[in-house]
Amino acid sequence: MTPGAGTPAGTPGPRNGPARRTGTGTKAPSNAARRSTPRSTSSTRTAAGAAARPRPRRATPGHVAPAVPGTGVLVTGGASGIGRATALAVAEAGRPVAVWDMDGDGAAETAEMCARTHGVRACAATIDVTDSSAHGPALAEALDSLESIGGFVHAAGISGPMSIDFIDEATWDPVLDVNVRAAALLLRALLEPFRAAGPGSAAVLVSSIEGLFGSAMLAAYCSSKAAVLGLMRSVAHRYAIDGFRVNAVCPGAVATPMLIPAFDLPGFRQRIEERTPLGRIADPAEIARPIRFLLSDEASFVTGTHLVVDGGMTSVTAI
Ligand SMILES: NC(=O)c1ccc[n+]([C@@H]2O[C@H](COP(=O)([O-])OP(=O)(O)OC[C@H]3O[C@@H](n4cnc5c(N)ncnc54)[C@H](O)[C@@H]3O)[C@@H](O)[C@H]2O)c1
Repeated sequence: MTPGAGTPAGTPGPRNGPARRTGTGTKAPSNAARRSTPRSTSSTRTAAGAAARPRPRRATPGHVAPAVPGTGVLVTGGASGIGRATALAVAEAGRPVAVWDMDGDGAAETAEMCARTHGVRACAATIDVTDSSAHGPALAEALDSLESIGGFVHAAGISGPMSIDFIDEATWDPVLDVNVRAAALLLRALLEPFRAAGPGSAAVLVSSIEGLFGSAMLAAYCSSKAAVLGLMRSVAHRYAIDGFRVNAVCPGAVATPMLIPAFDLPGFRQRIEERTPLGRIADPAEIARPIRFLLSDEASFVTGTHLVVDGGMTSVTAI
């Protein structure tokens, strides 16, 4: 948790723990009303570490509305960039949103935008996602606000440009902690909320095309984004037993505060645009919409995979 940041859009203040939240928007429908397809009792497959239980199924795979399911979505890194665009995209589909970020003002602003623009229930918390002791209290507060959490997007991330020549614990650990360790611990913490929300629950981890290749100046970042893909595949295997899906997106260059400072480097922007078949840098909303798709039942048979969203950059090579 990061104390000190305000939450301008509503009624801030600690309740049960270290995360601070702001609730705003209209009340979410009840879980019973929201859940269209109860758990089936037709299958009993198990995996290591998982108790034997019927495998949940959705009743009508392939015949779903774009916004289904209507459960709440937790978005980390939601104060800015891809996280904020994702919160707005899922709100546009009518889903309640919990916005977490160590930038509490930005998170509260995003929640307020979701509620004001799309009329959904939205709350915000000031939280450092690497502080696992803050996860439980913050989740309890988000559940209190949204009534359910059946979607998760890990968009909190840092880049830490550094080649292997200069890597040490101080430059390596924070990148791996935010980008991977926090995602793993949150995926563990979300298993129970996902069970309560029911089949159709889904998570999307934000990796990068840097997780598929290697940039010399991004040793920790490339490692973390490749690890995100391994984590995603492992958890997809485990979560499937409960009827939940896990996927990742690998964005290319996106105009967010993480990348925009690099536009000042001579020739940087031009080089990226030349290497991208679509000839431009993405708007964050162009990553958010594929994430929304992966969270929805429109992707009901998609799990354990990653979607590259890079304007074609990784599809071509120039010799
Ligand atoms: N911008 C790009 O070109 C690009 C490309 C590929 C992948 N990505 C990935 O997309 C994700 C989102 O990045 P973005 O481009 O929107 O950057 P951004 O800087 O706009 O957003 C990142 C957000 O994460 C938050 N954050 C960082 N550390 C945190 C922590 N410990 N606890 C809570 N919140 C924390 C920041 O406060 C910020 O709001 C990152 O994982 C990034 O690696 C970005």
